Amino acid sequence: MPGSPSGEGETPGDDEDAEVLMGVEVVVDGLSKSFGSQTIWRDVTLTLPAGEISVLLGPSGTGKSVFLKSLVGLLKPEQGRVLINGVDVCDCSESQLYEIRKLFGVLFQDGALFGSMNLFDNIAFPLREHTRKSESQVREVVLEKMEMVGLLGAEEKLPGEISGGMRKRAGLARALVLDPEIILFDEPDSGLDPVRTAYLNQLIVDLNAQIDATFLIVTHDIGTARTVPDNIGMLFRRNLVMYGPREVLLTSTEPVVEQFLNGRRQGPIGMSEEKDAGQMAAELAELRGADKGVPHIIPQLEVSPGLPERSAVRRRQARVMRDIGKLAPAAQQEIMKTIHPQDIARTESMHGSLTDTDAAQVPRKAPLPHRKPSPRPRVQEHVPAGGEPAWTREPEPEAGAGQRRRWFGRKRGGEQ
Ligand SMILES: Nc1ncnc2c1ncn2[C@@H]1O[C@H](COP(=O)(O)OP(=O)(O)OP(=O)(O)O)[C@@H](O)[C@H]1O
Ligand SMILES: [Mg+2]
Repeated sequence: MPGSPSGEGETPGDDEDAEVLMGVEVVVDGLSKSFGSQTIWRDVTLTLPAGEISVLLGPSGTGKSVFLKSLVGLLKPEQGRVLINGVDVCDCSESQLYEIRKLFGVLFQDGALFGSMNLFDNIAFPLREHTRKSESQVREVVLEKMEMVGLLGAEEKLPGEISGGMRKRAGLARALVLDPEIILFDEPDSGLDPVRTAYLNQLIVDLNAQIDATFLIVTHDIGTARTVPDNIGMLFRRNLVMYGPREVLLTSTEPVVEQFLNGRRQGPIGMSEEKDAGQMAAELAELRGADKGVPHIIPQLEVSPGLPERSAVRRRQARVMRDIGKLAPAAQQEIMKTIHPQDIARTESMHGSLTDTDAAQVPRKAPLPHRKPSPRPRVQEHVPAGGEPAWTREPEPEAGAGQRRRWFGRKRGGEQ
């Protein structure tokens, strides 16, 4: 099957009527990784739901980059499985791994550009390696992605001749050229100024709406963690301490999660990663003395006007509502604020009252204005008038519905 690890039935180049799919689910089961006697993390179990955006947090050195590399099969964990389309990435043949890797778009932490190749050739590399596109088709895709990340005009530059932020964006463009179904970004926002980070966050949400790929983003940016993902996970002390819907982590009173998401000095995380128990207890007592108030959740970023809704939102809603009764009351309340009353009534009629708290008192979201269900975008529809993408421009006061946007198509199979 095209898009499957076997690649069976793929017809390179023949994609006119290709069906566009949502991203694939990634199931991580009991994964453990060591380097010699150093355990990086053990028994990590989580599922990246198809088409949703997840963020992985954790202090420096907790193994986030090692985790991403394990998902693509670049590092081999000693125990556990990573299941993608039924194939265990940790235990499959080289040819299966080759096919699986075509599903991924990866932005490594250091950008991983070839120093001797100009930006155009760097970004074109996966297309030349994995597809049979002609040079003119390669050029079209490369320039489209370079325009999207604001690098048009820098095609001839070598990585050593541009700023760190530009290198990051070149890596981003390269990660997107194969229209991946699973996107892994390792700190896409490091080295970017705050305005570009805001544009990047919007770009991620918009991309997700357009291609419905499964995203996993490693970030240290609290703003990104609070506003972009559907799900958040956190690595600490060799364990995945928590993973779940954003509302669960954002309302969590787990000290390490709270400390990280609020960027506090007080808590279990110290400068050299871990603190001694006495100091931590004193700091937590200090915090408990202060009135911290109710945790405040910033709403999740919405898709830009003129783009289709994120399909993942409704899928996630259905998924989260199935198990909402098992979540902490604060998380339940936050989830219900985002849900249409009719959906809550329907769930309650199936499962009984949803929370221990009085659900009726929770302010709920007004019904979503129903956008027209848009056909899956398959080709770019709009080209920015000035040839410059929105996220490289100065912020506009109001992004109008007519704002020009670029849409992306994603089709079955690695061949484009
Ligand atoms: N190839 C390798 N061989 C040996 N040790 C490694 C290798 N790759 C990573 N490590 C070690 O694994 C640990 C986790 O590294 P990793 O780069 O995943 O951390 P991280 O959470 O991504 O940190 P940061 O936030 O600083 O990027 C570190 O102690 C690192 O030295
Ligand atoms: Mg890292």
